[in-house]
Amino acid sequence: MTQEELFKVLVAHCKEYGFIFPSSEIYDGLAAVYDYGQMGVQLKNNIKNYWWEAMTRLNENIVGIDSCVFMHPKTWVASGHVAAFNDPLIDNKDSKKRYRADVLIEDYLAKIEEKIDKEVAKGRKKFGDSFNEEQFRATNPNILRERAKYDEVHARYKAAEDANDLEAYRQIIIDCGIVCPISGTANWTDVRQFNLMFSTQGSTTGNSDDKLYLRPETAQGIFINYLNVQKTGRMKIPFGIAQIGKAFRNEIVARQFIFRMKEFEQMEMEFFVKPGTEMEWFRAWKENRMKWHVNMGMGAENYRFHDHEKLAHYANAATDIEFNFPFGFKELEGIHSRTDFDLGNHQSLSGKKIQYFDPETGESYVPYCVETSIGVDRMTLAVLSHAYTVEELEGGDSRVVLKIPAPLAPVKVAVMPLVKKDGLPEIAQKVVDLLKYDFSYQYDEKDSIGKRYRRQDAIGTPFCVTIDHDTVSDGCVTVRDRDSMTQERVRIEELRDMIEKKVSLTNLLKNL
Ligand code: GAP
Repeated sequence: MTQEELFKVLVAHCKEYGFIFPSSEIYDGLAAVYDYGQMGVQLKNNIKNYWWEAMTRLNENIVGIDSCVFMHPKTWVASGHVAAFNDPLIDNKDSKKRYRADVLIEDYLAKIEEKIDKEVAKGRKKFGDSFNEEQFRATNPNILRERAKYDEVHARYKAAEDANDLEAYRQIIIDCGIVCPISGTANWTDVRQFNLMFSTQGSTTGNSDDKLYLRPETAQGIFINYLNVQKTGRMKIPFGIAQIGKAFRNEIVARQFIFRMKEFEQMEMEFFVKPGTEMEWFRAWKENRMKWHVNMGMGAENYRFHDHEKLAHYANAATDIEFNFPFGFKELEGIHSRTDFDLGNHQSLSGKKIQYFDPETGESYVPYCVETSIGVDRMTLAVLSHAYTVEELEGGDSRVVLKIPAPLAPVKVAVMPLVKKDGLPEIAQKVVDLLKYDFSYQYDEKDSIGKRYRRQDAIGTPFCVTIDHDTVSDGCVTVRDRDSMTQERVRIEELRDMIEKKVSLTNLLKNL
């Protein structure tokens, strides 16, 4: 199965098993908007808990807040979003479809790379063990031609991006013969800047001064509450403020599932430091956040840093933590050293002094800030895409299993009486009563045990507990492990501790 096919299968699996549904599906859906179902919401809540507890409980100097989606419109002037939070968009006059000009060019470049990779694969097949990839790439005429084309377009694209030259974007699209995937024509409009913020009316007067924005990042809710938290919490620098909440961006995207949505959730932490110490903290947070990811057990090789060469105007250092998604390594989390850009601008625009008085040195200053920002939905996609596994079993059978890190699994344990009679459901109910206060569970008495195991595998339940006729006499149950499929007999009184060891969030946090 190609990675693209695997991604499609994953999307279908997420719907079939109640993880993620296209929004408003009965009305044919709404582009780039998704709802979480009964399984998805539990997975997402577990991810959020892991982040929240790691931030606010393991760090004495980090506190959490929950600010509103709506903020004073000047917030977005100060943050730079009104002036500069734009995408370059282009319309096809025949299909009336709108695209991101930069994405059209990036897709074109990706296709050239695909061609090169295919050529390399052909070479490998032809030459077998004697294949020298480096030499092949340096000498094969088809590859050299494609590489030259790639380099030329890439250089023009980067120049257009750096100069924010919209006409240059259009010219690249025309020169490369990029056509609309719907109409197949190159009948393009000019490229225009399009602000990504959604807005609505704040009152019923319809006056343009009443315009309110739906926040495009949660971070600004932290900055505008900096003084409130610092004063009421008697926080001493360095300290952090964490927040989890919805953000909204009018993204023009296609087929990216929950990777890029119009309504999504962020987990952001702004860490306020003394100016001049920010690089030290930037490095510390890079390390801290990578540790948090790798601690989930999804393979250190699936993460990498991507340091930004071109920095946003407010940053003096920036890196992404990228994850190996089915469509390649892509940004999962951003870590930015944002200087005093946000607090400084809020101070200027509001006229309120936003400073920290250092009692030890007697100095006052606008703190610098190091930000860690991760999308909950992107993290959910990382977990689901890594977890999705198809295993061949003995006898030609196969199973689909979600190998979700056990502490994040939506359902921790399934309780199953072998048959619906002989007093087994009654014992199973007692097992449920024993476990339900500590673990999310499912009770299942329908179909054969094999079918019930498959249902639990498909939603990633780490343990299945079966009550059989021996249980009546020996007080033991069969516990089946999701990943190894091994089964062991366990005394009912020992079940709770046994499950706890593997699924506990506390243990995951203790490893950090
Ligand atoms: N406050 C900084 C900030 O918002 P960002 O790189 O634009 O920076 C941070 O976003 C994270 O939010 C990203 O790394 C990604 O995980 C997530 N994110 C951003 N846009 C998203 C979208 N449209 N859909 C889903 N997640 C998104």
